[in-house]
Amino acid sequence: MSVHKQEVKRITTHQLQEMKNRGEKIAMLTAYDYSMAKLIDGAGIDVILVGDSASNVMAGHETTLPITLDQMIYHAASVVRAVKRALVIVDLPFGTYQGSSGEALRSSIRIMKEAGAHAVKLEGGSEVKDSIERILSAGIPVMGHLGLTPQSIYKFGTYSVRAKEEAEAQKLIEDAQLLEQCGCFGIVLEKIPAALARKVAETVHIPIIGIGAGPDVDGQVLVMQDMLGITQEFKPRFLRRYADLNSIVTGAVNQYVADVKAKDFPNEEEKY
Ligand code: KIV
Repeated sequence: MSVHKQEVKRITTHQLQEMKNRGEKIAMLTAYDYSMAKLIDGAGIDVILVGDSASNVMAGHETTLPITLDQMIYHAASVVRAVKRALVIVDLPFGTYQGSSGEALRSSIRIMKEAGAHAVKLEGGSEVKDSIERILSAGIPVMGHLGLTPQSIYKFGTYSVRAKEEAEAQKLIEDAQLLEQCGCFGIVLEKIPAALARKVAETVHIPIIGIGAGPDVDGQVLVMQDMLGITQEFKPRFLRRYADLNSIVTGAVNQYVADVKAKDFPNEEEKY
């Protein structure tokens, strides 16, 4: 009798829509490398975001601005090679889509072709409408990102909660409607009041994924290094830590150093 491996069915943007329609929450995490992407895909994550937060957590930059398209493609290709089930969305980095819709399309095509990504994400509403439409016209799925948009940190000056004032909240709702009309398959809402996020999720029909946007949206996303407790200094209210990898890794390395120094490692069984 031959044993056939069970085919793993890949999550699609259409399935995310169906999940919203039937009220099933969408679980999304970031990943930037092969090993971690393989782990979280195997653990059942629905969507992996190759976020430009790689600029912070992988490269150690203060902001997301420095990361380049080539660097994002390197991270994304590593993730795509590992993933069998999750939908892989890749951030368009700062400066690769705001200037001209033609450049936005070229950047997105590179991400799809060279990394094998399934969709792209970009920050902003009406300001980037032309870019979104141009990318979509090539058949590339686009996810929007509103609220706190870290690529605009020097415009806002802080990473504090966005859209607390009526005018900004109203613009955010209009932008979400615009992104839906353009054909985006989903929107990330970052760090906005929960009541506003709920209103957006009720107003638009496409999936709304929140980070610091409360429970009444269609799914949640966190930066993996934050939820695993690798990063220590970053402690926003919205972050729930599911592990303390910082302590586990530090303890393991302390023990390894001690074992090597004490000539305990390698032992008789650990040599050829
Ligand atoms: O880059 C990123 O990790 C993101 C998430 C915070 C949504 O955009």
